[in-house]
Amino acid sequence: MASMGNQIFNIQLNKNKRNFECSDNDSILDGGLRHGLSMRYECSNGTCGACKAKLVKGDIEKIKHHDYALTAEEIDNQEFLMCCHAPSSNLELELDLIGDVRLIPLQKIQTKIKDIRFVNENMAIVSLRTPRSKNLQFMAGQDVELNFKGVVSRYPIASCPCHGMELEFHIRNLDIDEFSQLIFSHKIKDKDKVNLTGPKGVFVLKETSDKPMVFIAWDGGFAPIRSLVEHAFSLEMPNPVYFYWAYPSVEPRPYFDNHAQSWNAVMDDYYYQPIACEFDRNSHNDCHKVAKQIYDSLNHDIVNQSEVYISAPAEVLIYLGEFLLENGLNDAQLIASPI
Ligand code: FES
Repeated sequence: MASMGNQIFNIQLNKNKRNFECSDNDSILDGGLRHGLSMRYECSNGTCGACKAKLVKGDIEKIKHHDYALTAEEIDNQEFLMCCHAPSSNLELELDLIGDVRLIPLQKIQTKIKDIRFVNENMAIVSLRTPRSKNLQFMAGQDVELNFKGVVSRYPIASCPCHGMELEFHIRNLDIDEFSQLIFSHKIKDKDKVNLTGPKGVFVLKETSDKPMVFIAWDGGFAPIRSLVEHAFSLEMPNPVYFYWAYPSVEPRPYFDNHAQSWNAVMDDYYYQPIACEFDRNSHNDCHKVAKQIYDSLNHDIVNQSEVYISAPAEVLIYLGEFLLENGLNDAQLIASPI
């Protein structure tokens, strides 16, 4: 069927009871990824065959040549490649979404530094770009290893998978982190090549839960929380969102405070509370003090009926987890990631 141009169609995923809108200018794969769906794909250009789906109802149009050859059986079964086809009517499809992080293959991708922005002398926002033909497949909240000339560090991805080729990292200036030292001494610059290995970790959203979502970050623990919250937006999850962002009280506010506030504009049921914590980076005992200050700032009636996602240093996590579990939170409600 010939394209009418700029029409938006509804794509229904029969097995998964999910649907999304996709323009007839877009591949069905891009449309689904933009709506936060964990679709299987690797190359995005018709080479690998990973994005196969079955057309149950409706019409599609081929928008890109593909080298991958479907078998006669797959063609008979109405299978096609989502990265090379756009909708030309409303569609019903059958496909398997990635519901389990263990099913995502470990990928090695050579990326380029797109931009390094220093928020202050302690925090850098680093954007990497993957090649057009090799996006990183990951779930919001996961980590990767970055390797620059043999110096390797592991960081959570701060961007949502729906952002495609652009990956964002929030890197704190820490003496013990050699990679961060290369960033802050300007030895890693725009356009430098950085090898990425990942994704890793299981700090991911419970997409089918209807409970409110409480997110708690300590400082740079905001990075995976941002990825999770923006992924929840793109999925249009209706769950109320409560975000508590603890930060060192020597700083005037959390480093991306405006960004956390701006989520108010896109979510009806969003509550944000920064928590300034007194804290001495050189004192180990202060992790208990930080955990207590966070705990005392929470609305426990809400926390105890929510899914609670915490991203903080391991010692803070342990103390805060203990406080929460001793005071009414259930094990299964707690999803934690050390930074
Ligand atoms: S993602 Fe590789 S063929 Fe579509």
